[in-house]
Amino acid sequence: MTKLFVEQLQITGKRVLVRVDFNVPLGGEGNVLDATRIDASIPTIRYILSQGGSVILMSHLGRPQGAPDPAYSLKPCVSFVKAALDKPVTFIPNCIGRDARKATSELKPGNILMLENLRFYRAEEFPEEDPEFAQTLASYGDLYVNDAFGTAHRKHSSTYTITQYFSDKAAAGYLLQKEINFIGSTLSQPKRPFYALIGGAKISTKIGVLRALLERVDALLIGGAMSYTFLKAMGREIGNSLCETELVPVAEEIIASCNKKGIKLLLPVDVVAAESESERAKWEIISTEQGIPAHLEGVDIGPKTVDLFSSELKTAKTILWNGPLGIFEMAPFAKGTFALARAIAASQAVSIIGGGDLISAVNASGVAEQMTHLSTGGGATLEYIEYGTLPAIEALSEMPASSRPIS
Ligand code: 3PG
Repeated sequence: MTKLFVEQLQITGKRVLVRVDFNVPLGGEGNVLDATRIDASIPTIRYILSQGGSVILMSHLGRPQGAPDPAYSLKPCVSFVKAALDKPVTFIPNCIGRDARKATSELKPGNILMLENLRFYRAEEFPEEDPEFAQTLASYGDLYVNDAFGTAHRKHSSTYTITQYFSDKAAAGYLLQKEINFIGSTLSQPKRPFYALIGGAKISTKIGVLRALLERVDALLIGGAMSYTFLKAMGREIGNSLCETELVPVAEEIIASCNKKGIKLLLPVDVVAAESESERAKWEIISTEQGIPAHLEGVDIGPKTVDLFSSELKTAKTILWNGPLGIFEMAPFAKGTFALARAIAASQAVSIIGGGDLISAVNASGVAEQMTHLSTGGGATLEYIEYGTLPAIEALSEMPASSRPIS
């Protein structure tokens, strides 16, 4: 990477604004269910403190609609940062206003502040509507570090617009650098065969990457809710399952492209089909060839698909997995996702697992340690594969020419 790195900043005595991605899954009582993304940014925070700097943490959480919403407060994340660093962390219940201005101006070396959810302000996601938002955030710090790989595909105030106020002072943190180095080097020349296992709800968010993957993979395995749009494109009955009807032609195009390029395309041969998306719903295993009856919806891959996908993945040397294969948050519909996590963990392949939800699933399945790389990016990982870079990375300062590796 030719972008400025946190170790190249003169940090002593400086206030460092750090954009992190603490968009973690929360339980019903606002409790953090999986702290992987918080833990992943601790090395950057620790480094800044060790250099005599102070830290202002900024993040979004969830998708509040541009206004304060207690259900998406970042406050539950504070105790995780405190515990990881064994230091006090002051939480500011907003991002703009007297509290934030006063607290950031009084920071001393070693102090840590965390601002409230950036997306409580509409200007975070729509910088052009209120450029002052980014400018005000920028005024809180002397230096800027982006460690939010998971959000680096968003051109938002805190990830993109803000960097214009830090010419030569906007650097990548350890997590951002690690993700780019690993994903870039592994996927630019993958060990073959290279298989992609893609799940999650929607084709619409993954069209670009599916097309990009068709240029690289040897096999494409599709599960999760998006598989029903593919099954529909193949003329199968999908009952009440989620389907992006307008994208059936795109699914047809991808199927045709796989045939033309000789890429193996695997879709579920059976599914768990339930009467509703509820843990207590009645469910049965249905073969997709037979078709899902009108009153049922697919909520997980079935046991034959688990066997098919698992045995196919045994031959892979590189595996990219993005998106869960069922509604794993509900115990009866988690089996497929957990079984594939175990199969990938047991394989000899280099494995890259991406996406906040999927990371929680892999952690819950108990095999996270055996994966080669758990990426904190979901959409960001996919867009990085598609475009080879991301807007928030591009916006960072260039590394001085004297520090660049000789190529
Ligand atoms: C993610 O979870 O992929 C990132 O935090 C980005 O979140 P977003 O899709 O709501 O922008």
